[in-house]
Amino acid sequence: MALATTLALGAATPQLAYMKGPSLEKVNSQFDKKVLNQLDAQRIYDNIDTLAQEPRVAGTDAEDQAVEFIAEEFESYGYDVEIQPFTFFGYTPPSSLSLSVEGFEGELNPRSFTYSVNGDVTGELVDVGLGTVDDLAGLDLSGKIALIQRGNISFGQKVLNAAERGAAGVVIYNNVDGVLNGTLGAYDERYVAAVSLSKSEGEALKALAGSTATLTVEGAEAGDRTSHNVIATKEPTNQKKANDDIIVVGAHHDSVPGAPGANDDASGTAVTLELARVLKNVPTDTELRFVTFGAEELGLIGSYHYVDTLSDEEIDNTVANFNLDMVGSRDAGDLVMRTLDGQPNLVTELSQKSSLKLNGEATPFSQGGSSDHVPFAAAGIPAALFIHSPLEPWYHTPDDTIDKIDIDKLQDVAEIVGSAVYDLAQFDHPSQSKNKEKVDVEADMIFEQSVR
Ligand code: BES
Ligand code: ZN
Repeated sequence: MALATTLALGAATPQLAYMKGPSLEKVNSQFDKKVLNQLDAQRIYDNIDTLAQEPRVAGTDAEDQAVEFIAEEFESYGYDVEIQPFTFFGYTPPSSLSLSVEGFEGELNPRSFTYSVNGDVTGELVDVGLGTVDDLAGLDLSGKIALIQRGNISFGQKVLNAAERGAAGVVIYNNVDGVLNGTLGAYDERYVAAVSLSKSEGEALKALAGSTATLTVEGAEAGDRTSHNVIATKEPTNQKKANDDIIVVGAHHDSVPGAPGANDDASGTAVTLELARVLKNVPTDTELRFVTFGAEELGLIGSYHYVDTLSDEEIDNTVANFNLDMVGSRDAGDLVMRTLDGQPNLVTELSQKSSLKLNGEATPFSQGGSSDHVPFAAAGIPAALFIHSPLEPWYHTPDDTIDKIDIDKLQDVAEIVGSAVYDLAQFDHPSQSKNKEKVDVEADMIFEQSVR
């Protein structure tokens, strides 16, 4: 079949097969080198620097600015760009918290629970044990502040139980040493303002039960937010000779709060931009889509949205997803790939081939999720995450900054993925799509016509 396909493409000039000169493989590899030589790791580094000036939390102005920058870069390379909006339910933590209790000397250090609502309450502090339904039976907590120990049931349930009895505020204290940074699990409009305290603070307040306390939680906000995916598409060079295959190269552009996300994932975003730049004018028979996703850190929301909006045909035709996430840290280990099922697929195979050719060693792979390849794999699309393992200590911290980025690591992953994508997208490569049979039948027909 491979022979038929190769010959078919020489149909107009059947003597091509007998022509002297460099083999097709050699021509390809020279072209491959030409593409790779265009890669400019300094550009990747500079784009990471631009993106990682501040955290890019999904749904914030900082994300919007990153989206604008990415779209403008793609456009400057000559791409048509689609900015794909989607909404999700978001929560902004409070900007200020305070708790004071009459008779308590010294300062309390309350912390917020994720999904706590705002409040400004002054009332009696009531010790209600673990805050279970049984603990609260028969109590009227109207206008009061419930003091609850951690344990047995979820924080969210404790707040709901107290609110049900009329409490206007809740203080939950730890049952082990150390600070308590908790979440109420999900937003619920029945919540009242809730904060956490350490075990020692909580025990001190227990002794003061019956005193008047004042609790304020300000600036928290829950509601619909808008994030965006940025999609730059390169159509096949010659529609007549094109196959229906689509390759998606992607990364997420958002970061976690507080982290500039130079490595996670301005690095993958900037490598995606650079691959888009160097591949823009390369002849390909396959469609290439360069996509940066929003709201990955909030649960892969952008990539699920992207995959959900594909037609069945587009899903069938998408033959590969290369997901670049955390690909530049000097303090992380070696490059590895992760597939959702731990099995090899077209992406790992092409990348092992290119890494072996480039470095003399095939990039290893194993099972792993936790990033934007997951929705692709779940839809049956061959997909892999490119990441360095072990992770750097700065992961999801304010220290994930440009000074920890290694330009050689950027160059290496850009070459491996660029070469693998080119291998698949170049003219003459047999189609990989599940519509492959159709393409092969067409190739056979052309072949038949050319020999008879
Ligand atoms: N950049 C990480 C990806 C990652 C993958 C980290 C594997 C570590 C191991 C990604 O942005 C991330 O932090 N993912 C979340 C999960 C996601 C579903 C919110 C995580 O791993 O906690
Ligand atoms: Zn990430």
